[in-house]
Amino acid sequence: MITRVLLTAACAALCMAAQAKDVAVSTPASTLLLSANEGRPLTFRYYGSRLASNADAVQAGAFWQDAYPAFGNGNIGDAALIVRYPDGNMSADLALTADKQERDGNATVFTFTMKDKLYPLYVDVCYKAWDDCDIIETWTNIRWQGKKPMKLLRYLSASLPVRRGDTWWLHQHGSWGAEAETTIEPVTEGIKEVRDVNFPKNAVLNRPNIMLGLDGRPQENSGTVVGAVLCWAGNFRITVDTPDKRRHLLQAGICEDAAEYNLAPGATLATPHLALAYSREGMGGVSRAYHRWARAHGALHNGMAMRDILLNSWEGVYLNVSQKGMETMMDGEKEFGGELFVMDDGWFASAKYNRNRDNAALGDWTTDKAKLPQGVPALQAAAEQRGLKWGIWIEPEMTNTTSELYEKHPDWIVCHPTREPIKGRGGTQVILDMSNPRVQDFVFSVVDNIMTETPKTHYIKWDCNAEMRNFGSHYLTADRQSHLTVDYHLGLIKTMERIRAKYPKLVIQDCASGGGRVNYGLLPYFDEFWVSDNTDAEQRLFIQWGTGLFFPSNAMAQHVSASPNHQTGRALPLKFRFDVAFTGRLGMEMKPSDLSPQELQFAKEAVATYKRLRPTIQLGDLYRVLSPYDNKGYCSQLAVEQDKSHAVFFAYKFRQYINMMTPRFRFAGLDPAKTYRLAELNKPAGAKPASWEGKAFSGRFLMDEGIELSLPGVWDSKVIEATAN
Ligand code: DGJ
Repeated sequence: MITRVLLTAACAALCMAAQAKDVAVSTPASTLLLSANEGRPLTFRYYGSRLASNADAVQAGAFWQDAYPAFGNGNIGDAALIVRYPDGNMSADLALTADKQERDGNATVFTFTMKDKLYPLYVDVCYKAWDDCDIIETWTNIRWQGKKPMKLLRYLSASLPVRRGDTWWLHQHGSWGAEAETTIEPVTEGIKEVRDVNFPKNAVLNRPNIMLGLDGRPQENSGTVVGAVLCWAGNFRITVDTPDKRRHLLQAGICEDAAEYNLAPGATLATPHLALAYSREGMGGVSRAYHRWARAHGALHNGMAMRDILLNSWEGVYLNVSQKGMETMMDGEKEFGGELFVMDDGWFASAKYNRNRDNAALGDWTTDKAKLPQGVPALQAAAEQRGLKWGIWIEPEMTNTTSELYEKHPDWIVCHPTREPIKGRGGTQVILDMSNPRVQDFVFSVVDNIMTETPKTHYIKWDCNAEMRNFGSHYLTADRQSHLTVDYHLGLIKTMERIRAKYPKLVIQDCASGGGRVNYGLLPYFDEFWVSDNTDAEQRLFIQWGTGLFFPSNAMAQHVSASPNHQTGRALPLKFRFDVAFTGRLGMEMKPSDLSPQELQFAKEAVATYKRLRPTIQLGDLYRVLSPYDNKGYCSQLAVEQDKSHAVFFAYKFRQYINMMTPRFRFAGLDPAKTYRLAELNKPAGAKPASWEGKAFSGRFLMDEGIELSLPGVWDSKVIEATAN
């Protein structure tokens, strides 16, 4: 009898391999190999370097394990699917009934349909392999054709074994103001898990993305690394289970805690996509694969577009917005050369509540005429007169108990009807229940009304400053209370789809007290995200480094703010603040009038330089070199155009002590055969040219040997343009 567990004898696996119908799901450099045989479960064989021949495939057949293991009928180890049928049976027995391949743009989608041998439960296990980047997306559609409802107790997106070698993993965690902290450590026996139940923000405490280094501690630009990113904005878990010396089991999906899901007759639940990346070029290769995929294949809204340089009003005036204050900021922005002005929180009110503190009026999205007597259209016109585009802040999924919206619709919030709501920010903030279609309509109307009143709005900053303190829904029926975290996000996505259908060009920033919702579940609808509320350039080096591991630079909003910094109190030179913000979508988060004339001059020149470099910085390939996490006090990286004709190199020093080692600053990602002329940018006034200034070096030399940089003080930095002759 064929068991559905891993066969320990390799020869048994190879014998079966010979008779199996193998299906290779391949990208340019990777293959995921499956055995698809009718009447048997879909079987996972291999994921790794692209297989070129049948011989490769037979050799690769090290695993023989269910590709989507169901609980209770032969599987040993964790299941991806646990069900309870209407008759109470919790065992599922899935067998393949059909498989197909279809082209979808630049990708091939493979769908393997399994059915329970006794029940009308269908599971489509899907893989989408891209032609031009090494990303395979995998997910399932779980379909129930029974006459009575059944329950899903666990419904992960994917389950795959990974060969065991000297395996390490990279995972991310943090807190408000310290997002995307990155840990790289060996995967030892037992279970490693990254898991977040901080709905509706799933990227503050933990992030739904990991990497696995298969050849020892993962390196930046060499070695085999696999990435796994769950495209979901709600509660999740990614688990690496290592029971023995042979393999790890990687599983990922929606976290099933308090999330049992009922399937009504005829219903389908599509699980979130898990995007797997494979690279033989280390962590950098995995990052570049995600960046290309995000930009080119819809994982980031309008991903190939370059983003404007903006001034956001928050750290300049906080809630004290006024017509005059906004216009003064616009004047300052025009002077330094910004392109888009964004009015942050504080502009709205109702007859009864205002937004002079952060404890009222969310939900009452009408202009506060006390602050802005001429209304928002007048501000938009003021921006236009200055040649600036216009943007505005909203937090549409939220309300305060001190708002007219809440007074009218107390049943619209996330909270069980029997409970008193526990409130967040300002002692009054609560979350609107996006599982409720009336709330979805309301949230849509918030955007729609803005676009109707000020049709030239170019940009919306969409904030989300709450975590779940209450569990329960007035809308969901008793047997569906456990749907809340899933249906909230499905409701949010449905609303975003509606917004996108009507406003495809509107630029929308995903903000959640900073980087609280940085995930590929939301980014198909958002153009960029606010990396962190912490704008301290030194700490940003770490936050941006961690974030860039999975997200492309044109999505990363990076603002120059005042000194001393409002979050850490640290005073940093303007040049360092600019150079750090330069690696993503540049912006400013301060009153321009606080800059001295010399600083304003520096800002003007830096902004003009950024505009010139924008295509390389925002759309080029990222090559990281010196990690701030190495504790050497330096950090460096490059943005390189895909044809390798042009690159921008960034180096930062953020520690200072006696007898400190100064590294050679090596470049990466250049063409070794090309010659590059170097030019220093963002130079302080009166700085002497470096020995390499204006000289040409081979790409090979710059990458193998690098150059000496003079960074004598702490918070010194360099931006160097490398142009191929
Ligand atoms: C949190 C955001 O991260 C800030 O940038 C700002 O928009 C505030 N919310 C406004 O309340």
